[in-house]
Amino acid sequence: MNTIRLTAALALLLAATSVTAQDRPAADPAKVDAVMQAMFHRVSPEWQARARLDETQRTCTERRNQVSAAEADAIQAREQARVQMPADGQFLGDWQRGFRVANNGRGGQFSDPAGTVAGGNCFACHQMDPKEVSYGTLGPSLAAYGRDRNYDPEVIRQTYIKIYNSQAVVACSNMPRFGSSGVLSIDQIKDVMAYLFDRTSPVNQ
Ligand code: HEC
Repeated sequence: MNTIRLTAALALLLAATSVTAQDRPAADPAKVDAVMQAMFHRVSPEWQARARLDETQRTCTERRNQVSAAEADAIQAREQARVQMPADGQFLGDWQRGFRVANNGRGGQFSDPAGTVAGGNCFACHQMDPKEVSYGTLGPSLAAYGRDRNYDPEVIRQTYIKIYNSQAVVACSNMPRFGSSGVLSIDQIKDVMAYLFDRTSPVNQ
């Protein structure tokens, strides 16, 4: 995309959403959609589809994440229906591979060579291994996550659902829907689950 087009698109987006603290007119969704389409018009249809909001994202965006109880219930039910449980009933894989999933922020970029395996980038938002010095704080600390929960099988099941589709648990969560969006495979989610719940994982030392 050239700079002029980007600048024009951003100006239109600002005009469409222009707000002040006191006065917040709703952004015209048609204008926002037009801007998004203009910005992504030369990419493949698959990428264009990624720029379109699904129903859950649209509700959270339009409500600025302040959804009613009924809307939250509807979102969580819709996202819960998209959760695929492991066929073998096992939730925990290999924590060493799970560390690499948690620590890998690659994937989903235009410049990725075909076949790039995406990571979960969990450290960008969470503390995990308490010895790790670099981590983000958008999400809560997950240090000692399994140990603090007594490695409870029901918590393990719920955490798998949380990681597979965060919005099945918290309607307008800021955490990506790793499984439903196809960023992580079921095996990768099991590995990162082991990083959180294996008794020998550094997370639980
Ligand atoms: C963009 C930031 C972001 C990323 C990346 C992210 N999370 Fe989260 N996560 C959050 C936020 C914010 C919350 C708290 C709000 C919520 O529950 O949705 C959360 C909550 C959680 C919880 C529930 C914690 C509790 O008990 O309340 C778990 C478990 C979790 N994340 C695991 C992961 C794992 C594993 C990954 C990597 C595969 C990951 N997260 C990646 C932002 C993120």
